[in-house]
Amino acid sequence: MRMSVIGCGYLGAVHAAAMASIGHDVIGIDVDDRKVAALSDGTAPFFEPQLVELLRQGLESGRLRFSNSMADARGARVHFVAVGTPQVTGGHAADLRFVDAAIRELLPHLGDGDVVAGKSTVPVGTAARLSEIIAPSGATLVWNPEFLREGWAVHDTLTPDRIVVGVPAGPDGAAAADVLAEVYAPAIAGGTPYLVTDLATAELVKGAANAFLATKISFINAMAEIAEASGADVALLADALGYDSRIGRRYLGSGIGFGGGCLPKDIRAFAARAEELGRGEAVGFLREVDKINLRRRDRAVQLVIDALGGMVFGRRIAVLGAAFKPFSDDIRDSPALEVAVRLRGLGADVVVTDPAAIDNARRMHPQLGYAQGRDEALQDADAVVVVTEWDEYRREMSPVHAAGLVRRQIIIDGRNCLDSAAWRAAGWDYRGMGRR
Ligand code: UDX
Repeated sequence: MRMSVIGCGYLGAVHAAAMASIGHDVIGIDVDDRKVAALSDGTAPFFEPQLVELLRQGLESGRLRFSNSMADARGARVHFVAVGTPQVTGGHAADLRFVDAAIRELLPHLGDGDVVAGKSTVPVGTAARLSEIIAPSGATLVWNPEFLREGWAVHDTLTPDRIVVGVPAGPDGAAAADVLAEVYAPAIAGGTPYLVTDLATAELVKGAANAFLATKISFINAMAEIAEASGADVALLADALGYDSRIGRRYLGSGIGFGGGCLPKDIRAFAARAEELGRGEAVGFLREVDKINLRRRDRAVQLVIDALGGMVFGRRIAVLGAAFKPFSDDIRDSPALEVAVRLRGLGADVVVTDPAAIDNARRMHPQLGYAQGRDEALQDADAVVVVTEWDEYRREMSPVHAAGLVRRQIIIDGRNCLDSAAWRAAGWDYRGMGRR
């Protein structure tokens, strides 16, 4: 099927490449010439496993192209809108200016019977408003939220847990649902549930899913606070809770909390929209979720200060991790990097390392010290702080080897991802977050 993907950021670039890989004829459109040039060249503008391979296959097959001209969307049967919806400056709501601009610029190129499929995360009610704008073109607007995780984006796009398509009532909506079913035919044939809903429900699914995941993480981090005050161990608590099949262990990873380009801004936008709808009270807990999450960063910094006897000034601190999570070079709202920046602000001699995110981190925070490799970062450190649970730190770092590099054997496990017994056995002062 011919399709356009408008916006070639994280979501759009992966979607375009994934759609080409299952046989569709895809044009990716973006206003950023550099991004278009990089993608056309088979280079991913960000780190994402499998994406480069998929891009190159698509480009070679001739089924995947990129352009900076919206006119190239003309003739496509489906137009996916995958532009960003950042947090507004000075508020919590979502900034819809890129979505609005994309629809406005696409409008003259739409044909009767085209389907416009919104993928961006938007406040509920947006799709109904946009439907009215595109109605005169004869195209139908549907909402098809995306649930991909960074680091797993290709996997999540090709084999999602579910596909949700919100459509307007009536025959046009039903026809559009059939078109989207054709788009996703391989996944649906492979057993992926295909849910057709109204527009508002589809928009809400995304916000609600992110709110739930954020709540689950903050829940276990709230338990970490209690564990710390009572001498319990939150990691064992999470294991024990996780065996309850009604609860499950995933997203019960305690530590410095969630960050990234999605969860933090999405829960704030969700709450802001609920306020507008007069139902702010219903999601008042999301403010607590956000507060618990931000408190984790303070707590991690405090643990380092305490471990160093009350002062970090002039101390060399190795910060292992900068990305907001492993398998990503994304540093947007990264708790890892924020811990590093705060320690630097207190006068510590901070050396950050990360397998993928150093270049991004250095651009944003040139005041920090950087080391290419883990061992270089550990050299002569007075304390080591693990803030992103890359395998390089979690699995592959030997406490005995590390002991030979540092000045003092102090390690703060900001992700509760290390084997505390092994580190202690090697003579380290190990401190987790809410762990004994
Ligand atoms: C998230 C949602 O998972 C995805 O469905 C949505 O489309 C976009 O937002 P992503 O931002 O890629 O995806 O990251 P995710 O893997 O969900 O992790 C988010 C943050 O939570 C990371 O900072 C991660 O370190 C943190 N996290 C995750 C925890 O602190 N504990 C956990 O147990 C799990």
